[in-house]
Amino acid sequence: MFPSFTPTNLAILALALSSGVQADDKAESVSTLSFKNSFVSSGIVPEVIPALDPAVSFYVTYRADDGHNELLTPGSTLTLNETSRLPIEWSVENLNNATNITASTRYLIYLLDADAPSRSSPTARNLRHYLAGNYTLNGSNSSVLPTAQRLSIPEANRRPFTAFTAPTPDPNTGIHRFIYALYVQPPRFNSSGFESVGMEAATGNWNLSRWRTQLGLGPAIGATYFTVDTGLSVNGGSNNTGNDGDKSGAGVLMPSGYLSGLMALGAVVVGGLVLV
Ligand SMILES: *[C@@H]1O[C@H](CO)[C@@H](O)[C@H](O)[C@H]1NC(C)=O
Ligand SMILES: *[C@@H]1O[C@H](CO)[C@@H](O)[C@H](O)[C@H]1NC(C)=O
Ligand SMILES: *[C@@H]1O[C@H](CO)[C@@H](O)[C@H](O)[C@H]1NC(C)=O
Ligand SMILES: *[C@@H]1O[C@H](CO)[C@@H](O)[C@H](O)[C@H]1NC(C)=O
Ligand SMILES: *[C@@H]1O[C@H](CO)[C@@H](O)[C@H](O)[C@H]1NC(C)=O
Ligand SMILES: *[C@@H]1O[C@H](CO)[C@@H](O)[C@H](O)[C@H]1NC(C)=O
Ligand SMILES: *[C@@H]1O[C@H](CO)[C@@H](O)[C@H](O)[C@H]1NC(C)=O
Ligand SMILES: *[C@@H]1O[C@H](CO)[C@@H](O)[C@H](O)[C@H]1NC(C)=O
Ligand SMILES: *[C@@H]1O[C@H](CO)[C@@H](O)[C@H](O)[C@H]1NC(C)=O
Repeated sequence: MFPSFTPTNLAILALALSSGVQADDKAESVSTLSFKNSFVSSGIVPEVIPALDPAVSFYVTYRADDGHNELLTPGSTLTLNETSRLPIEWSVENLNNATNITASTRYLIYLLDADAPSRSSPTARNLRHYLAGNYTLNGSNSSVLPTAQRLSIPEANRRPFTAFTAPTPDPNTGIHRFIYALYVQPPRFNSSGFESVGMEAATGNWNLSRWRTQLGLGPAIGATYFTVDTGLSVNGGSNNTGNDGDKSGAGVLMPSGYLSGLMALGAVVVGGLVLV
C-alpha cells in the first residue's frame, strides 16, 4: 500500500507527531485506596510491611524505553533499563490530607528490593537501593500529571544517605517487588544525617520496623512499587499469585480517526501503540 498524502492525512500525521508520539505520556491520577489495595494484592502487605494507609498518592516519573516520561502506576512491570536511573521526578497528590504538613515540611524517600535475592527465599530482605532526606515541595507540578506537586531536594541539602544503585537482580529469581516510600522527615534531620541516630550504611537485610523506630518516623504517608521479572524463580516458584502489575502497553492511545489516518499513511499499529 502506498500512502496517499492528502491534506487530511498530513494534518493527522502532524497532529499525531505533535500531540503524542514525541511528547510525554499523559497520566491519570491513582486514588490512595487504589495504592492501598495494590499493596495488599501484591502481598507486600503484610509480607514486607504490616500495613499501608496512604494519605497521599505518591508518584515517580521514569524514562520509559520508548523515550517517553511515564508516571509509575503501582505494580507496573519495568525493564532493567527503565530502572537503571533515579526517577526523573517525584510528585504527590492529596497532600492536604496528610496530618502535620506545612509548605516547608521535609520528606524522605527510599527505594528497596523486597525480594532479594528472591521472593521465595528473601534472605537479604530488604535490599536498599536509595535513601535520601530533605525533599521539599518544588513549587512546580509534575510534567506528566499536572495535578501532582513535585518534590525535590534543594542542591544545598542534597546528601543521600544511600546513593541510588541500579537494581541488578539475578536472572531466574522470579518477580522482584521494588518499593518507593515517602515519609515526613523528623525536624532533627534538618541539620544532621541519619547516621546521627546510628543508622548503618549496609544496604542488605534492612529492617524497616527497627529503622522507623531508630529515626522516629511515623508511618509512610505514601508508597508505590514496580516489579521486575527476572524469569522463573530458582525454586520453581516465581510467585505470581498477586497482582503482578500492569503489563498493558505504555503507548499513546489515539482516537480511532487518527488511527485510520495513520494506517493510511503506512504506520504500524501494535495493540494500541502507534509506531510511525
Ligand atoms: C506467594 O504469595 C502469596 C500471597 O502473598 C503468599 O501467601 C505465599 O506464601 C507466597 N508463596 C511463596 C512460595 O512465596
Ligand atoms: C486521607 O489519609 C488517611 C490516612 O491518613 C487515609 O486513610 C484516607 O484514605 C485518605 N483520604 C483520601 C481521600 O485519600
Ligand atoms: C534505555 O533507555 C533509554 C532512555 O532512557 C533509551 O534511549 C534506550 O533506547 C533504552 N534501551 C533499550 C535497550 O530499550
Ligand atoms: C501532629 O502534631 C501534633 C502536635 O505537634 C502531635 O501531637 C501529633 O502526634 C502529630 N500527628 C502525627 C500523625 O504526626
Ligand atoms: C526544619 O525545616 C523545616 C523546613 O525548612 C522547617 O519548617 C522546620 O521549622 C525546621 N525545624 C527545625 C527544628 O529546624
Ligand atoms: C525545582 O526543580 C528544578 C529542577 O529539578 C530545580 O532546578 C529547582 O531548583 C527546584 N526548585 C526548588 C524550589 O526546589
Ligand atoms: C499544581 O497542583 C496543585 C495540587 O493539585 C493544584 O492546586 C495547582 O492548581 C496545580 N498547578 C498547576 C499550574 O496546574
Ligand atoms: C539536610 O540538609 C542539611 C543541610 O545541608 C544537612 O545538614 C542534613 O544532613 C540533611 N539531612 C538529611 C537527612 O539529608
Ligand atoms: C526487625 O527489628 C525488630 C525490632 O525492632 C524485631 O522485632 C524483628 O524481629 C526484626 N526483624 C527481622 C526480620 O530481623
